[in-house]
Amino acid sequence: MRSVTILGASGSIGRTALAFLRNHRDKFLLRNVAFGKDWQAALDISREFNVASVSFEDTAAARSFMASRAYVGARTGSGPRVVAGPQSAVEMAADCVDVVLAAISGSAGLPSVISAIRSGNRVALANKESLVCAGPELLALAARHGTSIIPVDSEHSAIFQSLLAGKKSEVNSLLLTASGGPFRDAPLAEMANASPEKALAHPNWSMGHKNSIDSATLANKGLEMIEAAYLFDRGEEDIEVVINPSSVLHSAVCFCDGSMIAQLGHPDMRMAVGYGISWPDRMPSGVKRLSLADMGSLHFSPVDHARFPCLGLARSALRAGGDGPLLFNAANEVGVASFLRREIRLIDIAPLVDHCLDKGMGRFRGPLDEVSDLHEEAVRFCRAEANRLELRPAVST
Ligand SMILES: NC(=O)c1ccc[n+]([C@@H]2O[C@H](COP(=O)([O-])OP(=O)(O)OC[C@H]3O[C@@H](n4cnc5c(N)ncnc54)[C@H](OP(=O)(O)O)[C@@H]3O)[C@@H](O)[C@H]2O)c1
Repeated sequence: MRSVTILGASGSIGRTALAFLRNHRDKFLLRNVAFGKDWQAALDISREFNVASVSFEDTAAARSFMASRAYVGARTGSGPRVVAGPQSAVEMAADCVDVVLAAISGSAGLPSVISAIRSGNRVALANKESLVCAGPELLALAARHGTSIIPVDSEHSAIFQSLLAGKKSEVNSLLLTASGGPFRDAPLAEMANASPEKALAHPNWSMGHKNSIDSATLANKGLEMIEAAYLFDRGEEDIEVVINPSSVLHSAVCFCDGSMIAQLGHPDMRMAVGYGISWPDRMPSGVKRLSLADMGSLHFSPVDHARFPCLGLARSALRAGGDGPLLFNAANEVGVASFLRREIRLIDIAPLVDHCLDKGMGRFRGPLDEVSDLHEEAVRFCRAEANRLELRPAVST
C-alpha cells in the first residue's frame, strides 16, 4: 500500500485525485487531507477514506468540523486528528508518505510544498504558482533532499512522459499546446468588450475562474512556459507554444533526430492527476481511449501575439530572471481579479502586467522561506500600480 497526502482535497484537482484513489483502494491509503475551510467536504472525505489527519487553514472551520455530530461519533472510535491554522497544511505535508499531492490554489500552496520536500516526500505538483514564484530554489531543495517533483499540470505531465523516450542531451526543444480559449478566433473588438461571463466560458476544460481567465488571455501558457522552463531546465527560446483548439495533443518533446514524441488524450485531468500519484506506474484513470478515426483531424496554428501579448510578457519575465516570474504572476493575478470585478477590461490585463514588470522588477527577491510574503508584497505593489493607471471598466453583462 502506498500512503498519500492530499493538500487541497476539496478542490477540483483534489476531488479528481479522490476519484482516482476510490478506484484503486487496494493500492493507496489516503492518510492526510488539508483544506482551506470546507469542513463539510472534510467530513465526507475523512469518513469515506478513514484518514488519520485533517487540517484547516480556517480555525472556525476546524471548530465546525469537530463540533459536528458525525465527527463526534467518529472520535469515539478512531476519528482523525485535527490541525488548524495558517501552518496546518505545512504540518500535513511534513508527514512522511509515499506521495503528497500539492493541489492548494495560489501562492498559499508554496509553504506546504516546501515542507513536503524538506521531509523527503515525493510531490505530485498541481500548484503551478510554487514553481513560477520559486522554481529554481524548489528544484534545488528537491535535489538536496533526494526527492522528485512530478508535474500534474496536463502539459507538463505530457512533457514529463514524452521525455522518457530519450536522454536529456538528446532533447532539442519542448512544444506546449494551448487551446486558445474562448477568443481564439473572435474579432479583437469582441475580446476588448468581453464580459467576465463570456471570458469564463472555456471551450474544452472545466476550471476555476482564475484558470479560465488565464486561458482566455494565454497568461496560463505564459505561466506554464515558465513552469516548463524550470522543471525541464530549458530556456524560453527552447519552448514553442502552438494552438491546438481541441486540447487533444497535451504537449510534446522534440528530439535531436527530428522525432517529436507527444502525449495525446481527451482533455481530462484524470490522466495527469492519476499519473502524478501512481508514477512510476500507470494505472487506469477512467478516461476512455481517444479514437483518432472518430476525430478525423488535429488542427494546429501559431499563436497570434497581437491578440495574446501575455505570453510574450511571460517570456520577457523569464528572460529577465530573478523576481521577473514572481512579478508576472502577481501582476496577472491582480489583473484577473480586477477584470472579474469589472474594474478593467480583459485586454487591460497585459498592459497592466507590462507596466508592473517595468516598474517593479528587482524589488521582490529573497530566500525561499520568504517567497510567500514577497508574493503578497508584489500583489500589493501591483494593486497600487493598477490604481495609478487609468483603465476602463469591463462591460457589465
Ligand atoms: N483545475 C485544473 O484543471 C488545474 C489544472 C492544472 C493545474 N491546476 C492547479 O492546481 C491548483 C489547484 O487548482 P484547483 O482548480 O483544484 O483549485 P480549487 O478548485 O480552487 O481548489 C483549491 C483547494 O485548495 C484549498 N485551499 C485554498 N487555500 C488554502 C489554504 N490556505 N490552506 C489549505 N488549503 C487551501 C481549498 O480548500 P477549501 O475548499 O476548503 O477552501 C481547495 O481544496 C492550482 O494551483 C491550479 O493552478 C489546476
